[in-house]
Amino acid sequence: MANFAIMGFGTVGSGVAEVLRMNADSIAAKLGEPLKLKYILDVRDLSATPYAGVAVKDFSVLENDPDLDVVVESIGGAKVALDFTRRALMAGKHVVTSNKELVASHGKELLSIAREKNVNYLFEASVGGGIPVLRPLFQCLAGNQIEEIVGILNGTTNYILTRMVKGGIPFDEALKEAQAKGYAEQNPAADVEGLDAGRKICILSDLAWGKEVLPEKISVQGISGLDLKDVAIASEAGYRVKLLGRALRLADGRQAAYVAPHLVSGDCPIAPVDDVFNAIMIRGNAVGDVMFYGRGAGDLPTASAVMGDVIDALQHRTRRRELGWSESADLAGLEELVMPWYLRGDFAAPVDCRVLSGGAVMTKPMTAGEAKALAEKLGAMVILPVLQ
Ligand code: HSE
Repeated sequence: MANFAIMGFGTVGSGVAEVLRMNADSIAAKLGEPLKLKYILDVRDLSATPYAGVAVKDFSVLENDPDLDVVVESIGGAKVALDFTRRALMAGKHVVTSNKELVASHGKELLSIAREKNVNYLFEASVGGGIPVLRPLFQCLAGNQIEEIVGILNGTTNYILTRMVKGGIPFDEALKEAQAKGYAEQNPAADVEGLDAGRKICILSDLAWGKEVLPEKISVQGISGLDLKDVAIASEAGYRVKLLGRALRLADGRQAAYVAPHLVSGDCPIAPVDDVFNAIMIRGNAVGDVMFYGRGAGDLPTASAVMGDVIDALQHRTRRRELGWSESADLAGLEELVMPWYLRGDFAAPVDCRVLSGGAVMTKPMTAGEAKALAEKLGAMVILPVLQ
């Protein structure tokens, strides 16, 4: 019998309990022993729920139970979750999490405690919800030099953009729908302003290149300033507006990472990805482009990834999964990256730009610094990067 606990019984935590209820037999067959949910730690009163018998309020019960193998941290945030994760790892428990804020900001430290204590700290659910993407990145693609990662990393904003464009509903209503479906963060500004996608692109960078990229070090722009007029002009020109996280390695060995709304060419496989779905393209120097697609948020999809990690942690009890990243990456600024740009305003189109409708143009590839200078010279009101 293997025992695990869930800390934080919100959307993800309750999803994990439900996945165990649905699939207990097949999980036990894969593990070679039954998996028991021994504790749920939450400040809420669970006495009227089917989980009353396993509900606890004191973390030290988990910490001091020598028979507890794995702790699922689905509390969120980087305060209590950080303290309990440190203590659980120090107590020799494997820890599995969906908490991207914690992994992006404190992953280096937590992975180093896990190494010291010979336990696993796994976080597949922290990027892409139910999509297997981190394990393929650090395992299946380990034979490659990773060149670039780009993708839709936030289900809430993709849902909002899709509902606004295809459903014709206003931003606030679309956000309320995303919240009701359990996609949005407790503070939806983290979704809308791009912070959540920023944390995820940092985790992908950390794993791809083995050097820490902290969320506060990268440029992040969300969708709150988007004008539907630009979405319509983009559609007419064969592009879709998507919030993308992007990370790449430059020829001089430096890295870059950022989040911004982009015009995405209709020919790119990311363009038709709608609703809560995420899509992440990874380019390796041997494999070329691979794309990972699926539900990027929600209780059961996220719990699917968490449960996969619980099983993996138990299967790697003696020889832990070797994961981690080291010193800070040497980062190039967004200003240095070369791509085409969408500009809109009341100006005469420069000769070497593609003319779109509504006073918009698309430039030839140039650095963000050059594009900003051009936008200023023309008096453009809107400037967005383009992914071909
Ligand atoms: N709020 C996040 C999203 C949840 O919408 O993608 C999954 O990380």
